[in-house]
Amino acid sequence: MRAPHVFIETFGCQMNEYDTELVRSILKDKGYRFTDSAETADVVLLNTCAIRENAHNKVYGHLGALKPLKEDKGLVIGVLGCMAQNLKKDLMEGDSLIDILAGPDSYRSLPELLEKAAAGRKRMAVDLSEYETYADITPDRVEGVTAWIAVMRGCDNFCTFCVVPYTRGRERSRGFDGVVREAEALAASGCKQITLLGQNVNSYRDGAHDFADLLLAVADIRGIERVRFTSPHPKDFPEKLLEAVAGHPRICKHIHLPLQADNDRILQLMDRTYTRTEYLALVDRIRTRCPEITLTTDIIAGFCSETDAEFADTEDLVKQVEYHSAFIFKYSERKNTIAARKYADDVPDDVKAARVTRLVERQRAISLKKNLAMIGKPVKVLVECDGKRSSDQWMGRTDGNIVTVFPKRGLAHFREDEKVPDPLSSIKPGSLTPVRITDATVTTLYGEAV
Ligand code: 5AD
Ligand code: SF4
Repeated sequence: MRAPHVFIETFGCQMNEYDTELVRSILKDKGYRFTDSAETADVVLLNTCAIRENAHNKVYGHLGALKPLKEDKGLVIGVLGCMAQNLKKDLMEGDSLIDILAGPDSYRSLPELLEKAAAGRKRMAVDLSEYETYADITPDRVEGVTAWIAVMRGCDNFCTFCVVPYTRGRERSRGFDGVVREAEALAASGCKQITLLGQNVNSYRDGAHDFADLLLAVADIRGIERVRFTSPHPKDFPEKLLEAVAGHPRICKHIHLPLQADNDRILQLMDRTYTRTEYLALVDRIRTRCPEITLTTDIIAGFCSETDAEFADTEDLVKQVEYHSAFIFKYSERKNTIAARKYADDVPDDVKAARVTRLVERQRAISLKKNLAMIGKPVKVLVECDGKRSSDQWMGRTDGNIVTVFPKRGLAHFREDEKVPDPLSSIKPGSLTPVRITDATVTTLYGEAV
């Protein structure tokens, strides 16, 4: 009998991409095979995100598109991840196309759920766990230059706007030794860059080991050229962590430091646990320790009761800090959150949209200025793959995580009569290549290998 073929589509953050790798591993072990389209699949799994309303809408759109396949060939449809956990049985009601639901802590039960679904029984598994870290499961990764390791899951911060503590449950960390062993195995298989993941990654703790210890241990593994981490919370930046980032040559000089808002009243309503003064002091501390740091951030525009003047505070801070880039979102009320229960979502949608547009414009100007300032400078690029526009170019990233594109061939290639071997021909994915920057846009640096 032909093994059932599964198509998994992933929405949302890097943690979801990582979870998809876990799900693939769990299903592969049970004999499932994978395919890259719904048309050729027996089972379609949507690994969903619940962070904002447009994330939900995308999933509803994709579900609707699967209806003809469900009717034609009895496709089994599963919804995994945060939206499954957030909406639970609401998703299964009426003439729902969904056969199974599995929340982020229930992936071990997927084979059983799928067997029941194949026998015509709709099922859901949405219990959250205080312990599940999938530590014993090796994700089914596409082997390459970069890899993720989820080192902690869940979040205990309960920022009032955020659904994550409800969809991913309580904070729990993986064991220190297990993470280091997994990173060593990745290095042995040729991986050059590891990104440590967690909803609150710098709250990591295993007994006597904290996040700085873990970062240093992974960065010390032979063969690993770069270690990154995301996303940290500004509340957990002890000197020891800054020292690790500033002092270790293989820990990337990039910190994503979600601000969300700058006005103290709004920060308090969001329950972010810091004031603008404390946040700015942290930025200062980081830049004093590590002047070459690249800072990026997340901002929410139009949180409950935010006035124009309060949002102007956020705009001022963006101007003052000059992040290298920023994700700027319209506030989107999420079911079950503290804000949904306590505050009115009363900033009109067009006001939220106008705030986002204004701030995006301001940030784009800053990003462009910063990228243009890199022209003429040498940077080290970890080559990842062919450029998007042309296979004659390489694409990689700087230490600060800025996408950089450069031609594969050096000048020597054009001097064919001299029969000089092109010195750039040895560059391949995984090469750490010095590149001189010659041009820049808001998002991308262009250069030539030197
Ligand atoms: N509305 C808008 N943006 C949100 N984020 C989290 N919850 C919401 C929400 N309800 C943003 C935050 C967070 C990022 C991952 O998503 O900026 O840092
Ligand atoms: Fe959400 Fe706040 Fe936790 Fe980040 S720290 S996942 S924004 S609750």
